[in-house]
Amino acid sequence: MRNWLLSLAVFVAGAACAAPPERVVSLGGSVTEIIYDLGQGHRLVANDASSLYPPEATRLPRVGYYRSVPLEGILSMAPDLVLASDNAGPVNILERLSGLGVPVRSVSDAPSLDSLYLRIGQIAEALQASDKGHELIDAIRSEVAQAQTIETTPRRALVLLDRTGSLMGAGQDTAANAVLGLAGLENVLEQQVGYKPISAEGLAALAPDMIILSSASAEANGGLELVRRKAGISATPAAGQGRVIAMDDLLILGIGPRVAQAIQQLKNAAR
Ligand code: HEM
Repeated sequence: MRNWLLSLAVFVAGAACAAPPERVVSLGGSVTEIIYDLGQGHRLVANDASSLYPPEATRLPRVGYYRSVPLEGILSMAPDLVLASDNAGPVNILERLSGLGVPVRSVSDAPSLDSLYLRIGQIAEALQASDKGHELIDAIRSEVAQAQTIETTPRRALVLLDRTGSLMGAGQDTAANAVLGLAGLENVLEQQVGYKPISAEGLAALAPDMIILSSASAEANGGLELVRRKAGISATPAAGQGRVIAMDDLLILGIGPRVAQAIQQLKNAAR
């Protein structure tokens, strides 16, 4: 019994003293952003194509896009930890990485503030920066509370994404839907689950009075001016009232540490 207790004490002490990881690969833009916010950016050796913020993140090697990562790309970075959004995949690739002895820590990435706070705690713990994690959570909580006091006009809004050459609208169970809700906006696609392609006719029939495109999707469609004149969009109240806007992809397609900024931008645009 005493030997057993001694081994346990040695194990616990060893775990507590283990050095924090030094070669971290992050998969998912908000995971990367949180790592920098925790002051742990120096531990990153690579990230993925959705890691667009902060600017330092865009200067690191990329291992692909977090939703379809290649095994070799990650292995070649010799990571001692992969911090992966739980939307990262394919799952079998992440499992193979684990099987090859690469520690993979999956972190919560559901469309809610609670998931954001959980994600920050998980990342902070993995990087042995739990105190900073608590500070970051407290700071975001108060920024969100502050943003929620901003006066606005409730609008019927639509979030559009274009990654594949055609527009898709965000329904429920998406981060975009949750961000709209936090800003007091109604999602015109609340009856739909997830992202689905949307036609010009469908768009006109929904008659949203505010349309938000992710910035990259606006660019992929030739810029906001062209988007406003697009079939379907030009017929909406949103276009008529000058409320077709573009927003940073990380702010509108996910819930990350700048969520209060997202709420603020949406509320100001909806006025
Ligand atoms: C959270 C914020 C997000 C950011 C910053 C982001 C960023 C990106 C970037 C940079 C690419 C290009 C990848 C490449 O060039 O290899 C991409 C591709 C793509 N994204 Fe996202 N994305 C986000 C969320 C989403 C969401 C919510 C969806 C919808 C389910 C989505 C669906 C796609 C698809 C279908 C592609 C094309 C995938 C491919 O070609 O393999 N993304 N995204």
